[in-house]
Amino acid sequence: MNIKRNILLYIIPLLFISGEVISSGNQIESKLEDLVSRMTIEEKVGQIFMVEIASITPDQVKEYHIGAILNGGGSFPNKNKNHELNEWVELADDYYLASIDGWDKDNHKIPVIWGTDAVHGHNNLRGATLFPHNIALGSTRNEDLVKSIGKATAIEVLASGLDLTFSPAISVPRDDRWGRTYEGYSEDPAIVSLLGVAMVEGLQGNLNSTFMSNETILATAKHYIGDGGTERGIDKGNTILSEDQLIAIHGEGYRETIKAGVQVIMASFNSWNGEKMHGNEYLLTDVLKNKMGFDGIVLGDWNGHMEVSGCSVDNCPKAINAGIDMFMVTDAWQQLYTNTLEQVNSGVIKIERLDDAVKRIIRVKLRSNLLDKGLPSKRKYSGNESIIGSKIHRNIARKAVRESLVLLKNNDNILPLNPSSKILVLGEAANDLKQATGGWSLTWQGNENENKDFPGATTILKGIKDTVRKSGGSLEYSKDGFYKINPDVAIIVIGENPYAEYKGTLSELVFSLDDLRHLEWAESLRKKNIPVITIFLSGRPLWINRELNRSDAFIAAWLPGSEGHGISEVIFKSKEIEKDYDFIGKLAYSWPSSIEQSPLNYDDTNYSPLFELGYGLNYSNTINIEQLNENINRKNDSLIGLTLLEGWAQEPYSVELRSLSGRKLMDNKSVATPSNEVSISVVDKLAQEDSQKITFFGNTLSSWNLMSNKKMDWSQVAKQSGVLVINIRPLKNDSNEILYLGSSCGDNCEAILPLGELLNGFTIGEWSTIGIDLKCFEKNGLNLSEVFTPLFFSTQGRWSFEIGSVFIDAGTGGKKMLFCPNIE
Ligand code: BGC
Ligand code: BGC
Repeated sequence: MNIKRNILLYIIPLLFISGEVISSGNQIESKLEDLVSRMTIEEKVGQIFMVEIASITPDQVKEYHIGAILNGGGSFPNKNKNHELNEWVELADDYYLASIDGWDKDNHKIPVIWGTDAVHGHNNLRGATLFPHNIALGSTRNEDLVKSIGKATAIEVLASGLDLTFSPAISVPRDDRWGRTYEGYSEDPAIVSLLGVAMVEGLQGNLNSTFMSNETILATAKHYIGDGGTERGIDKGNTILSEDQLIAIHGEGYRETIKAGVQVIMASFNSWNGEKMHGNEYLLTDVLKNKMGFDGIVLGDWNGHMEVSGCSVDNCPKAINAGIDMFMVTDAWQQLYTNTLEQVNSGVIKIERLDDAVKRIIRVKLRSNLLDKGLPSKRKYSGNESIIGSKIHRNIARKAVRESLVLLKNNDNILPLNPSSKILVLGEAANDLKQATGGWSLTWQGNENENKDFPGATTILKGIKDTVRKSGGSLEYSKDGFYKINPDVAIIVIGENPYAEYKGTLSELVFSLDDLRHLEWAESLRKKNIPVITIFLSGRPLWINRELNRSDAFIAAWLPGSEGHGISEVIFKSKEIEKDYDFIGKLAYSWPSSIEQSPLNYDDTNYSPLFELGYGLNYSNTINIEQLNENINRKNDSLIGLTLLEGWAQEPYSVELRSLSGRKLMDNKSVATPSNEVSISVVDKLAQEDSQKITFFGNTLSSWNLMSNKKMDWSQVAKQSGVLVINIRPLKNDSNEILYLGSSCGDNCEAILPLGELLNGFTIGEWSTIGIDLKCFEKNGLNLSEVFTPLFFSTQGRWSFEIGSVFIDAGTGGKKMLFCPNIE
C-alpha cells in the first residue's frame, strides 16, 4: 500500500461534526451514550441491519429490533406497481409501530429508518416528478437548481412517509462504457462535488439553518470509493489507482459532502487495487472515519458484503470489522443476523466495534429527530397527494430539462425553429416515456415501463405538439419513418433503451449498431432538402458521427425525465411563445470521436475528443461542424468474449418460447407459452437477475430460442477456436425424451445436437460450464456465416434447468465439451 499520503487531500471537518452546527451536538452525544448503554446485544445487532421490505415483515422488524428497511428499485408496498400514495404511508406506519414496540425497557424505543433510491425524484413512486438524471444536471452546473431538486424530492419522499434516500451518487465515471455513467454528474470531480453538495443541502437542509427540519430527509453519498474508476467501466469491477489518485479523483465529493453534513455514506461494490471495498478497513475506517472525520453511518450496498473474499451473503464479520456500520441485505438476513450475533458473542466482532456502529446509527436517528417525529402518517406532508408530481415540482424539472440540453451542432443556425411551420417528428423515442426516464424509474431497469405508468408526465412529442398547435403550425408524427406530407423541417428523436447498473455496461462506446433506420430517414429527408434536427436521449456520450453527419442540428438531451416540454421550449421561437430560451448546457463529459475512445477524460495527456468537456453551442454561435469520419475503427473485432445472455438476453438478442399453443417473447421476468408447455423465469445466481430458469412441461415439442435481430457471422471466430459457452445447472429430468441443443441459420437450416446425456451426468442443482465447438455446429449443418438463432433448446420431455451466461470464448479449457457426433 502506498504510505505516502497527501494530507491536504483530506480535510478533517471535525469543526462541523462535533461543533455547534449539527443541532445541539453535546446533548445528542450524551443521550446516545445513555441509550446504547442500556441496549442488549441482540438489540444492538438488530440495529445494524437494513433489510429489503419484500424479505421482512413488520413483526420481524419488532422481533429483531431491526434498524432500517429499504425498498429496492421496483419494489413497492404490496408489490403493487400501480400503488396509491396511501399504501406507502400505511406500510411506513406498520413498520414504524412495530419498530417501537417490544423493546425491553420503555425508555428507549428506537424507530426504524426507511430508505429508498430517490435518485432523480422519488422515482419508485407512481406519479412522482421524475427529474433529469444526474448526467443531465452535470451539464447545467447550476447549484441552486440542484438544491431545489433536492428539496422537491425530499418533500415527495416525505409525502410517502419515508426517511432516507440513497442519493446523491457522487460517482466520477471515468469510462463511459459503465452502465451507471448517467448516475454521475461529471467526469470532473469538481463538478461532482459542487452538485453533490447542492443535492445534499437540498435533501437534508443547510447545516446553518434548515438542517434536518421537518421538510427534509436524510441523504446518502455513494458509492465509496472509486465506483466510477473501474477498469473498462466494468460494474463492481476493479479500480486501479495510487492512493493519491484515488482520493484526488474519487474522494473530493466525499470530503465536501461530509462538510455539508451528509449523514450516510454507502460503500461501493468495486475493488480498489484488487480488494473489495466492503472489506477495506483502511479506506472505510482509517480514511473515511478517522481522517475525513465522518461520524454518520457507513451503509453497505445491496448484499455488497458477499463480494468480500471469505464472506457469503449470510456471513461476513469482515465487513463490520472493516468499518461497515449497517448491512444492506435481502432474503438472507435472518441467517446473517444469527451469524453476526454469534460472532459478537464469540469476540470475532469486538463489542467496541458493534457499539461504534450502533452509536453511528442512533446518532443519525437522533440528529434527524426520528425519535420524536412520531408516526409517519402524522408527519408534515405525509399522505398529501397534491404534492406528488405537483405543478411546482414539475416546473423545476422542466427548467432542469431546458438547462441541461447541450447543443452539439447547429449548422447554418437552423435552430431555433419556427413553430408555425410544417413539422415532422420521427422516431418512437419521441413518444416513449421509458426512454426519456431511463433506469431507476418506477422499476430498477426501467425497461418494462409504458407511458401509462407515468401519470402526469409529458412526452417530448406532446411538448412539441402543444407548442406547434399554439402557434398555428402543423405536426405529423411517425414512429417508423413513413409520412404523408413533406415538412419544412424534421425532428428525429432517437436514443438508448433503459438500463441500470451492470446491465447497461457496453463493450464499446457506440450508439446502435443494429438498427440504423434513423440514418436512412435522415438521408432521404435531406435529399429532399428538408433539414433534420436530431434529439438524442442517452445515459452517456456515445460515438454518433454518422448521426451527426446526417443532422443539421443535434441536441444531447440525456435522460430528461417526465417533463418533455422542456425541450420544445428551447428549440422553438415565436411571438406566441411566452418566453424565449437559449441553450445554456455545457458538456460535463467528454464526447468521443471514435468508438475506441474510452476511457476519455478532460485531464488525459493526449486529449482529443470530438467535443470537449465544457463544450455546448448557443444561438449566438455561428459555428458549422464539418462532415466527420464514419469509419468504425476497431483494433480488435473478434467475437471472442461476446456475451449473448446473462440472465436476460443482451441486446440485440432476445429470447422466444415456442410450442403448439403459440410463441411468447421474453418481455417479462416470467413468461410461458399460452398453454404453459414451456416457461422461463429470471432468478438470481450470484447477482440479481443473472440467470434464468427454463422448464419444459413435456408432451408436446417445445423450444426455447435465443434469437439475434440480424444475422451473425461465426465463420471467423470458428477459425479462432471459438466455443459457445453456457453456464448451466440441471434441476430436474423425469423424462425419457431427449433434450436437444442447437443453432439455426434460418428455415430448415440448423445444427441440432443431443444435450440431455451430458446434463444427466451432472449433479442436480450444481452449476457447470459446458462448451460447444462452433466447428461442431458447422459439421452438423449450420451455415456459420448466417446464424440467426445462435442457441436453442428443444424437447418433448419434461426438463428443467437454469442457465447463467451464454458467451463466446476461445478454446476448450475449463469447459465440459459437448460430444460432437459428426466430427472425426
Ligand atoms: C433491486 C435494486 C438493486 C438491484 C441489485 C434489484 O432487484 O431492485 O434496487 O439495486 O437488484 O442487483
Ligand atoms: C445499488 C445502489 C442502490 C441499492 C438499493 C444497489 O444495487 O448499487 O446504488 O442504492 O442497490 O437499491
